[in-house]
Amino acid sequence: MKQVVVTGTGLYTPEQSISNDELVASYNAYVDNFNAGNAAAIESGEVEALTHSASGFIEKASGIKNRYVMNKTGILDSNVMTPQIEERPNEAPSLQAEMAIKATHQALEEAGITASDIDAVIVSCSNLQRAYPAISIEVQSLLGIEGFAFDMNVACSSATFGIQMARDMVRSGSAKRVLMVNPEICSGHLNFRDRDSHFIFGDVCTAVILEDAEIAKNKSGFEIIDTKLFSQFSNNIRNNFGFLNRAAEHARDDKDKLFIQNGRKVFREVSPLVATMITEHLAENGLEAQDLRRMWLHQANRNMNDFIVKKVLGYEPEFDQQPTVLDEYANTSSAGSIIAFHKYKQDFKAGETGVICSFGAGYSAGSVIVRRAG
Ligand code: COA
Repeated sequence: MKQVVVTGTGLYTPEQSISNDELVASYNAYVDNFNAGNAAAIESGEVEALTHSASGFIEKASGIKNRYVMNKTGILDSNVMTPQIEERPNEAPSLQAEMAIKATHQALEEAGITASDIDAVIVSCSNLQRAYPAISIEVQSLLGIEGFAFDMNVACSSATFGIQMARDMVRSGSAKRVLMVNPEICSGHLNFRDRDSHFIFGDVCTAVILEDAEIAKNKSGFEIIDTKLFSQFSNNIRNNFGFLNRAAEHARDDKDKLFIQNGRKVFREVSPLVATMITEHLAENGLEAQDLRRMWLHQANRNMNDFIVKKVLGYEPEFDQQPTVLDEYANTSSAGSIIAFHKYKQDFKAGETGVICSFGAGYSAGSVIVRRAG
């Protein structure tokens, strides 16, 4: 079997950002308007009054302080509360392809190769802006890549599942160099009128280049030791948006056509499952927790990550062992663990080992053990 290395990563961060205070001010203005407009119905008990959101709660419950978004104005306008992103003509690059290209350039630079060296593209993310043609094929065309491309979606685990697909392709010989990109426009599927979740997501794009170690130009990349995937059906994180919505006109705009979760249950059910998965994955590869220099975990909730790492290591982790980007980026779905890896991998020495791990809707979880080469 061929050895596969991650030779480059890239990150595109949108220019606009929203702090907790800005988001909460807009949500609370919406609540005040709603309550004033429904005062009589609230008084008679027909309608339930809405309650303010609070920045303090958001930071304490999740670790999130800020998020980047593709369009701030629409989200913060309490009469709109959704990003305003114009449709583009078919001749223009799509927004997701554009984000993907920006992240890819950075990854190519680290890998020391050009786009024409790539022979397969995977766009893997939790929401695709159209059904077809595949965004990945558009990315392939914009970059002038020969070969093949496809899109895939495993929600928050899209990147780790994408890494396993890419690795399997290189190992089997169906591709030599794969570009795996995660353009996440999470603000497009977030219900900014829902107090329980309006603060959760941000937008971003990450890119990962995986190559056959024999032909890799960057000799100090991260060798993939092993990958492990897991899935188990759950309704606790759900989004019913899809192509059949227009066939059920009466329900087309219901709240379930945006992101909905039972956050408490997700926290309770997924955290132990992920800790066990990482521990088992390490054991299957003859490794123990103390062999890990760092865990780049899915960025959904700071407390959840502390719980998982403590369970794996047996003690409270330092920032260095489990870096977080939640404070700055919020939950960016599949991109979260890759942002953490991208930003906190430069200090790894040859031979040091770490785990990239994602988890989320499905449920789905992915663990990727990597070791610095060179
Ligand atoms: N502002 C202020 N208070 C809020 C609030 C807000 N925006 N949202 C909820 N609350 C209140 C609730 O009303 C509740 O009040 P009560 O105790 O008086 O009933 C209290 O805060 C706790 O609410 P709860 O929903 O149980 O909070 P939590 O501690 O579970 O935190 C999440 C919520 C979403 C941050 C957390 O559950 C989580 O991150 N779970 C994991 C989710 C995950 O990984 N999802 C993957 C998605 S890709």
